Amino acid sequence: MSELSGGKLPKESTDFLSSVGTQVQQRFVANRMILSYEEYLALFFKEPRLHARSAAQHLRDAMDFFGTEEIETPIGKLRRFKLFDGVGEGLGLAENVHGGDGRVAGQEEVQNAIYRQISNFVRAGRVNKLIMLHGPNGSAKSSIITALMRAVEEYSRRPEGIRYRFNWVFPSEKLVKGSIGFGGAPPAGAKFETFAHLEGEAIEARIQCELKDTPLFLIPRDERRRMLLEHTRAAERGSDGDDAFILSDYMLDGELCQKCRSIYSALLAHYNGDFLKVLRHVQVERFYVSRRYQTASATVEPQMSVDADARQVTADRSHGSLPPPLQNLAFYEPMGALVSGNRGLVEFSDLLKRPLEAYKYLLGTVETASVSLGLFLLQLDAVLIASSNEKHLSAFKEIPDFASFKARIELVRVPYLRRYSVEKQIYDSQLDRATVGKHIAPHTTRIVAMWAVLTRLKKPMVERYKGAVRSIIDDLSPNEKLQLYDSGKAPDRLSLQQANELRAQLPALYRESDAYPNYEGRAGASAREMKTILLNAAQNAQYKCLNPLAVIEELTELVKDKTVYEFLQQERMDDFHAHEEFVRVVEDDYLDIIDQEIRDSMGLVSETQYKDLFERYVQHVSSSLKGEKIRNRVTGEYEKPDEDLMAHTESILMSRGQDKRDFRRSLISSVGAFRLDHPDVEIDYSRIFPDLFRHLREHFFEERKKTIKRNKENFLRYLGDEKSSLLERDRHQVESMLTTMRDRYHYCEHCAKDAILFLMRKRYSD
Ligand SMILES: Nc1ncnc2c1ncn2[C@@H]1O[C@H](COP(=O)(O)OP(=O)(O)O)[C@@H](O)[C@H]1O
Ligand SMILES: [Mg+2]
Ligand SMILES: [Zn+2]
Ligand SMILES: [Zn+2]
Repeated sequence: MSELSGGKLPKESTDFLSSVGTQVQQRFVANRMILSYEEYLALFFKEPRLHARSAAQHLRDAMDFFGTEEIETPIGKLRRFKLFDGVGEGLGLAENVHGGDGRVAGQEEVQNAIYRQISNFVRAGRVNKLIMLHGPNGSAKSSIITALMRAVEEYSRRPEGIRYRFNWVFPSEKLVKGSIGFGGAPPAGAKFETFAHLEGEAIEARIQCELKDTPLFLIPRDERRRMLLEHTRAAERGSDGDDAFILSDYMLDGELCQKCRSIYSALLAHYNGDFLKVLRHVQVERFYVSRRYQTASATVEPQMSVDADARQVTADRSHGSLPPPLQNLAFYEPMGALVSGNRGLVEFSDLLKRPLEAYKYLLGTVETASVSLGLFLLQLDAVLIASSNEKHLSAFKEIPDFASFKARIELVRVPYLRRYSVEKQIYDSQLDRATVGKHIAPHTTRIVAMWAVLTRLKKPMVERYKGAVRSIIDDLSPNEKLQLYDSGKAPDRLSLQQANELRAQLPALYRESDAYPNYEGRAGASAREMKTILLNAAQNAQYKCLNPLAVIEELTELVKDKTVYEFLQQERMDDFHAHEEFVRVVEDDYLDIIDQEIRDSMGLVSETQYKDLFERYVQHVSSSLKGEKIRNRVTGEYEKPDEDLMAHTESILMSRGQDKRDFRRSLISSVGAFRLDHPDVEIDYSRIFPDLFRHLREHFFEERKKTIKRNKENFLRYLGDEKSSLLERDRHQVESMLTTMRDRYHYCEHCAKDAILFLMRKRYSD
């Protein structure tokens, strides 16, 4: 026998339960979960606009609620809706099943298009179109809709996003007739009797409205219209502006659903037309939008064949306990995704995958905001968003019915991303040590994102450009285009003027193929495919971390078999769509980065250090030619130009037999000429003297190579079992290097080793 069975419950658990109980109840009251009709109307009169919102208005308010920010991109400023950065608490399982974490990287243009369309609905007072997101597979169409749904859910939990529906309640016979008296006394401060707050035993029956009709429908239409117009001080249809509130068709003209109307009429007859007595039976209930419970948020999967249906309910069958006034009533209970999604958002996932017959009715639905169920109409107030891939959409455009559909569909294109730093956010936010089961080495997601975007880029249409910039654009390599899109950076090989001309064309270049069926961002590797590649790479037993080397191996294998993914079969255009070569491109990029990081961790000269050296050299030469003194940066004293420094630099820069004085003069006059041409530009010597910089680089490279080799040997001994054989000094150096790699660049011991060996093999072996 358990300890609990005999005596009292332990105090701890009863205390806990009563404290939870108190909290739940307080929240319930504070959140205004259950109201009598009178209490509801009091809320309405306080904030009429809040309660008179249609689904489109509620959705737009939700988008506004989470706010926007302006982001800078190389193609200009864009407005980003913050809800796409994720809202609310941690993830529930349901959300995970639906994919994504509620965050959508990039896609600002899609966000704005959706917002514009919803604003149109608001201004028109009705949802008169089906929004259709279309794009290649895996371009975040579903993720975008999921993020919207999550935002509306979260918003509906806040006071600003409050939503109400109502139920019909019937007190138990005993209560009405019994000696305890009448159970419907008005709550404190109220005037009219109500059954809304009855509990448990005292309630005989409670009937929900499946469509979640707004409680405002209980006021007859003419009176309701007058009340709404007067209290919301509504603006004309089509008005805009922050303070313009538009009343929707739904609120103005909507009617109770078939079931509620039957109950209403039956009660009104029962009470001989006493409206207030009917209202006693109304229990207004707050609802939270929820995809999981299909409340004002529903998804229609392509394999589902019926979106709305109804079954008849009769007194003798399921509702044996129907209260007397309703007992001879026959009414219908509607069901299906359109019903549960009413007063919110309905997603039609991959709509065009369905047979035409299964979605043709939608045309009428957006036309009339209703669905016919044969015996009666379901009146809807919902924003409908569908998704489709490009293939299905093209096929759809071919059918004869398309012409009539077209006017009722708003097409919003959702291409793949074309900026790798944004693409990288997808992998960074969706993969971590827990999901891949290993440490994720630095730069892994970067090269994955780069490769994915490279496969998506198209060769520019050169004939669109005039003048000198045409050949510059013609010469752009895929990697150069990639960098240009990502950060606006023009290739180093271009002169300043050329770079500016190219940058001026960037927006045109970026939007070049927008109007074409085969737009840039339609084909290529999808994020979903890249995640698979990452997860496969994580299985590579050769490495203790998920690192770029494993990814490169994976990609190298992948491009060999062109049948795996369709995009691998794209025809090559110059260097574009050269997927094998892109593996080398990302590998090179990776090597450049680790070269710099590893050198930096070893405390070796970095690029900026020899730029520094060169700058100082020019200063000293300039002063010495003018016969001036130069200010010592450390002491602040004025000193003669440093001959040793100049001689040392010249020993690296000058070729044999060159005259020192000539060299110096021509150097200074080149700098002068540059200054004249570009008075406002900060001098970058590596651009004026690319050859000299190459000399410098090579010189330091040779020096570096020796040190790196020695360091590598020490490093391997350190990681192996020979730590003790290392000299104190060498051990110190290895440790400080590892510390920097860890703290500054986030390597662990294992991926640091992988990176160093790879760098040695690729760049510093003889
Ligand atoms: N811009 C993006 N932001 C976040 N995740 C993305 C993005 N693009 C693609 N994904 C990821 O790729 C996968 C496919 O996205 P999904 O929204 O289902 O695509 P679609 O519905 O367009 O086929 C999801 O796992 C999603 O997380
Ligand atoms: Mg999808
Ligand atoms: Zn109803
Ligand atoms: Zn690691």
